[in-house]
Amino acid sequence: MEKSPPPQISQSPEPLPNKKGLWKGLWGTEYDHTRKEDMFLVTFQHLHNEGQLGRVIVDIGSGKYPVTRHLPPEAQVKVIAVDIASDEKQQYPNQLKIRFDIENLFRDQEATRAAVSKVGEFLHLDAGQDGALCTPDMQKQIDTIVCSDVLNYVDYQKVITSLKTYMKPGARLILAEMPGRGYKQLHSGAGLDSAYTLESFLERSGFEIEIRRENWPSLLVAKLV
Ligand SMILES: C[S@@+](CC[C@H](N)C(=O)[O-])C[C@H]1O[C@@H](n2cnc3c(N)ncnc32)[C@H](O)[C@@H]1O
Repeated sequence: MEKSPPPQISQSPEPLPNKKGLWKGLWGTEYDHTRKEDMFLVTFQHLHNEGQLGRVIVDIGSGKYPVTRHLPPEAQVKVIAVDIASDEKQQYPNQLKIRFDIENLFRDQEATRAAVSKVGEFLHLDAGQDGALCTPDMQKQIDTIVCSDVLNYVDYQKVITSLKTYMKPGARLILAEMPGRGYKQLHSGAGLDSAYTLESFLERSGFEIEIRRENWPSLLVAKLV
């Protein structure tokens, strides 16, 4: 099949200047959705047309209005929307919303086990009983991980390294992130510091950059090779 060209996204103006309890207060704030909407619509549609979205999509730091709502309606996907302040109220079929601090993946085995168990149930997989954090069934299930405006707030290198256990070979990261943007008082000291550091970390970690858009809304699509 002939490959379609990478998505063409119209240029936007420069960015506007712009942990659980604190995030709760911000829950429901619109995080520039209007400006990102077009980019996600086009990118998701492109990956879907290329057969690259897969079946299991995880939206990390999804917020109240997950960008994954822009997935093509015809895509047969299951979406797991993870957020530290999630209301856990399902918004549409084939979506699981879970309240989870993504940094627990490397910090809190008990909380991770509980989250993995919920995901296992949602995907009709064996998530394992006591002790097993990641049974062979649960490993390598994720096809696509979406991070939109969240990596400034977490130790992103440890988060991405932890997530790799659950990603299929060839799975993709879709990152709409801009170092330094957002609620600075909530930024992690181990959050993004530059686009260069992010890309070189991804390459060292076994990802290949497939799509790069540098102006806001910035975008990286990286494949686990
Ligand atoms: C700036 S908002 C972005 C929301 C949405 N992804 C978007 O692009 O509009 C950041 C989101 O990340 C969530 N978040 C922050 N730290 C997190 C963590 N450690 N684990 C999971 N979610 C987190 C917040 O609750 C918030 O909903």
